[in-house]
Amino acid sequence: MDPCIETRRRLIKLLQMAYSGEKSAALAYEGHSGSVRNEEEKLAIALIAQEEWEHRQVVGQLLASLGEGPNPWREAIQTLIGYIIKPACYLSGWFFPMLGAWLLEEMNVNEYATAQGYAQFLGLLDFVAELEVLSVKERSHADYFKAKSLSGQGFMSKAFVQLFQLADAMRNRFTYQK
Ligand SMILES: [Fe+2]
Ligand SMILES: [Fe+2]
Repeated sequence: MDPCIETRRRLIKLLQMAYSGEKSAALAYEGHSGSVRNEEEKLAIALIAQEEWEHRQVVGQLLASLGEGPNPWREAIQTLIGYIIKPACYLSGWFFPMLGAWLLEEMNVNEYATAQGYAQFLGLLDFVAELEVLSVKERSHADYFKAKSLSGQGFMSKAFVQLFQLADAMRNRFTYQK
């Protein structure tokens, strides 16, 4: 198969995933923002939710400029996921939504970086620039939730930090040093 056709197909699929994923993330963060008590966290997460809605608009425009639109199944599934997570944030305590958000944002960073690679291959330079902005913003979201996840004072947070530090120490111990 023509590599350009295949790469274009992959880019469209990834953008459709991102478009719908932004919706579930925005809905989830609306719940997350409502569920935390700390005012700084409430405002920061509400701003992140707003930014996810904005990302969705940008990705929608990229899809439209390729003559494509959202995938209806992905839309249905991610909307459902968003509406499940939104109220669940009120029941799941402080730590797990922070950790879940961190992991989700790390995936988003990779998703946009991969899409950027496809766009580069296809010579879509305006896409590359837009996707770079999205990727950088998702990195800032990931860093925020990472810092939060590692700063918790509850039992689960502290146990997780211990595990995280242990995994880091083991990775350094077994990484080949030149
Ligand atoms: Fe986003
Ligand atoms: Fe994000």
